[in-house]
Amino acid sequence: MGSNPQSSAKPREAVEALFPFLDLQAQFDGIRDEVMAAVSRVMASQQFILGPEVESFENEVAATVGTRAAVGCASGSDALLLSLLALGIGRGDEVLTTPFTFVATAGSAARLGARPVFVDIEPDTFNLNPHLVEAAIGSRTRAIVPVHLFGLACDLDPILNAADTRGISVIEDAAQAIGALYHGKPVGSFGTTGCFSFYPSKNLGGAGDGGLIATSDLKLADRLRVLRDHGSRRKNSYEVMGINSRLDALQAAFLRAKLRHLQEWTDGRRRVAERYRALFAEFSLDQRLKLPRSPTHCLHVYNQFTIRSLERDRLREFLAGRGIPTEIYYPLPLHLQPAFAGLGYRAGQFPEAEAASREVLSLPVYPELKEQHQVAVVRAIADFYGVAR
Ligand SMILES: Cc1ncc(COP(=O)(O)O)c(C=O)c1O
Repeated sequence: MGSNPQSSAKPREAVEALFPFLDLQAQFDGIRDEVMAAVSRVMASQQFILGPEVESFENEVAATVGTRAAVGCASGSDALLLSLLALGIGRGDEVLTTPFTFVATAGSAARLGARPVFVDIEPDTFNLNPHLVEAAIGSRTRAIVPVHLFGLACDLDPILNAADTRGISVIEDAAQAIGALYHGKPVGSFGTTGCFSFYPSKNLGGAGDGGLIATSDLKLADRLRVLRDHGSRRKNSYEVMGINSRLDALQAAFLRAKLRHLQEWTDGRRRVAERYRALFAEFSLDQRLKLPRSPTHCLHVYNQFTIRSLERDRLREFLAGRGIPTEIYYPLPLHLQPAFAGLGYRAGQFPEAEAASREVLSLPVYPELKEQHQVAVVRAIADFYGVAR
């Protein structure tokens, strides 16, 4: 078919996927006994809310991330919300962040009455462009929320510098990036707080919702603990207006069992990503598509392996016809979502985020993904582009 993408291809019927986009079943098969032992332990204790399992999990994550404290909560979204609440951010305040992210990154600020102020991304990392941040800082800016999207650290140094000189907080949205490194140090340990999600598809995925705030500010950690539990330190005493955002003991026990495997799973994801790179190079597809960048000063943990294609929608349909599952994160940047219409942004204001939304395609990436499946993915993409090896 030469170099012309399948422009004349008829729309194909989606066929049953050859393998799943994410295979949590395969992961569970490898840790069933450990998980069942953890569940039994909690059942035997009949302690379901907070308690020793949660405390142990918090300590273990703090040690992994390299912070002095960690506070478990009900979700990654609440980790962001609680961070802002604890810092007293709300009405009249501005929070700088990226429009190319999951809704909760900016939604947490908006929910508290603060104004999300969007700053465009870098096209090759999909992360907040640190060089645009400085100009967006105003007298009302109280926090910057860089996101380590898809498992790659945002370029934090210029952001931390800009924030530091002005007394602005940095809240890292590390929901997708547990274990990722920036200049050799774990993400989530640089900002005032680092926010993690244990949504099942994350690199450390729970058996339901869960989240955690990492911080080395012990006073702030104490405030976060009070805020996540109705503003209460003692029964029937409410010192501040809090919320109910506790981590369940069952969830913590499950996550503790999985945390012991995180390093080996991270290594597995990175191996799978490198195999994609080698296969794309073999087919010379690395000339036609943009592969995810992995700068040398970062350790990418590949919560997603996201390529860019100018023919993204047709490519995705073609792959579905071959039984290759893919996903689009994110098809519409936040400044164009109805929920943020009140902010008054228009199409064209963040051209890099908008272009990324049109071009990104996430391919299956998980430690259990078989080489033959990756070959099937890359061969199907090569067929779409009419490229022979
Ligand atoms: C970048 C980002 N921020 C925040 C969240 C919110 O986390 P959760 O789904 O645990 O509320 C997610 C995950 O969905 C995310 O990907």
